[in-house]
Parts: sequence; C-alpha cells; structure tokens
Amino acid sequence: MTKIPVWMDCDTGTDDAVAIMLAHKLPELEILGISAVCGNTIQDNAYWNTHRINALMGTDYPVYRGAEKPMVIPLVTAAYVHGENGLGDVELPLPEGVAEQKESAWDALYACARAHPGELRLVPTGPLTNIAIAFTKYPDLPKLLHSITLMGGSAGPGNITPAAEFNIYADPQAADIVFRCGAPIVMCGLDVTTQAYFEMEDLDELAASGKSAGTFVKAILMHSYAVLAKYGVKGFCMHDSCPVMYLAHPELFEGEEAGVVVETRGSFTSGKTITDLYSDKQFPFTNALVILKVDREKFIALLKDAIQSI
Ligand code: RIB
Ligand code: CA
Repeated sequence: MTKIPVWMDCDTGTDDAVAIMLAHKLPELEILGISAVCGNTIQDNAYWNTHRINALMGTDYPVYRGAEKPMVIPLVTAAYVHGENGLGDVELPLPEGVAEQKESAWDALYACARAHPGELRLVPTGPLTNIAIAFTKYPDLPKLLHSITLMGGSAGPGNITPAAEFNIYADPQAADIVFRCGAPIVMCGLDVTTQAYFEMEDLDELAASGKSAGTFVKAILMHSYAVLAKYGVKGFCMHDSCPVMYLAHPELFEGEEAGVVVETRGSFTSGKTITDLYSDKQFPFTNALVILKVDREKFIALLKDAIQSI
C-alpha cells in the first residue's frame, strides 16, 4: 500500500498530542514532518511537547520550530484548557539526545512539498500562522501541495468566542491567507469535531490497559475535565484527530463543498469562518469541503486502537 505523505503543524496541546499518535499508528499515513506553532501554548512548549510525544511513541519524526506569535494580533493561548505546559500540566520528561532541526517550519515544509510535488497532505491542527508565513515566503507552495486538511473554524457557533473557533480566532489574518490560497481545503471545524469525543469510560479503558500511552492520554485530558463540565461541553472532543482520521478513513465522514471566508476585523466576530452553506446568498466560489458529520462509534474505536497499540 502506498502510504499517504503527511505534514502536521501542531500547537501541541493535548488533542494535538493524540492526533500525532493517531497519525503515527494509522497504516495508511506516513508522517514526513511535524512543525510547532504557538496557540494552545507558547511555541517552545509546543515544540518540546512534540518531542515528548516522539519519545513516548519511540519515534524520531523531525520537529521544526515555527512562529512564536501570530502575524498581526497579540498571542492568545488556551492554557485554561491545555494547562500552562500544553499537556494538561502533566510532567513528561524531556527526551535526551534530541536531534534538533535547524530549518524553520516554513522552510522545511516548502522543501518537503518540493520533494513530493502534488502529494503532500498538510494537516494543520493549530493556528495557521506557520502556513500563512510559508505561503507568503513561497507563493508557489499552495500549488505544490495535494491538499490542506485542517482542524479549524465552524459553520455554526464558536468556542473561544460565540462566533469563532480557537485556531482561527488565534490568528485570523493567517487563516484568511490560507482560505484564499487556492489549494484544496478540507475544513474539520467544530461542526464535526464536537461529535468526535471520548467519554470518561473511554479514558478509563485507555488507562486500565496499563500501557503508558493510554495512561498518559487520560492524564493530559483530565486537566480539561473541570473546564468542559463548567461550559457543558459533551465529552473530551478529539478535535485534532478529525483531519488525521479523515485522510485515512474519509468514509467515516460527511461534508459539503462551500465557500468559506474569514472575518478578520469584527469586534465580536473576529476569527469567524463564514460559510454559504445555509444562506440564500452563495459566494461566487467554493474553496473548502466543510465536514459536518462523523460516525463517532467507528472513529472512537479506531482512535482507541491506535493509542492502545503504542
Ligand atoms: O478549537 C479546538 C482547537 O483549538 C484544537 O486544535 C485544540 O488543540 C485547540 O488548538
Ligand atoms: Ca490544536
């Protein structure tokens, strides 16, 4: 089987960590690189957390440093969900002997795309700052990519604000650049990612296995438990695993082609992804497949199998 080449761009964070584990274990995918971006936590944490996940999996995927702040607006993190360290404030030792990459995220991504013209699937699971910088520095990059399958946005309500989902809200100017870039986009927004959740018994099952990955996943996700309960969020949403799972198992998902634009200036709506899915007024373009449904039972079963096999 020819594996699907994947580049992940993560603000490693708790659900990013799970998504990296999933991408590693799905036989259909091959991770060629992982870049770190500020978002859930500062870039340095996201960078070292990604190395920590490498060490937990016994892998050495190359990890590249990216942006330390958004393109225009000040940095906003999600420590209230992901903890100050980005991994639910669970202490995981820094791996020893890490081979640090010298290239920046955007330079390394461009080199990888040029080495795999038309084949590389870009999977951003955080704010789109690194991607927008890469597209600005290398205008031919969007055409070199097979596609961008991202976690971000929402055709419905937001989470970080009533209007906006965190990844888009955290750098709306970057998201605007990405949604205008012309590369095929699959948007896994809150519409579908809030259906892809672990229940507490799923976490208990993972931890009961006694295997380090399962125990770790429950521990990092428990930090958000109080927050989820406070906001009435159903379960532990594995937002970032959705774009990864889509690449290997698109049959589990349903979506619709749509025009999507990003609000970059609204006092109350900055970071909102506006789609023409539900309006009489249609945009004169379609630039994204907006994913709206997932078979949760099959999704969670595959995700648990992946974690348990590490
Ligand atoms: O809104 C959910 C997104 O914000 C996920 O990517 C999560 O990791 C946070 O970055
Ligand atoms: Ca993320």
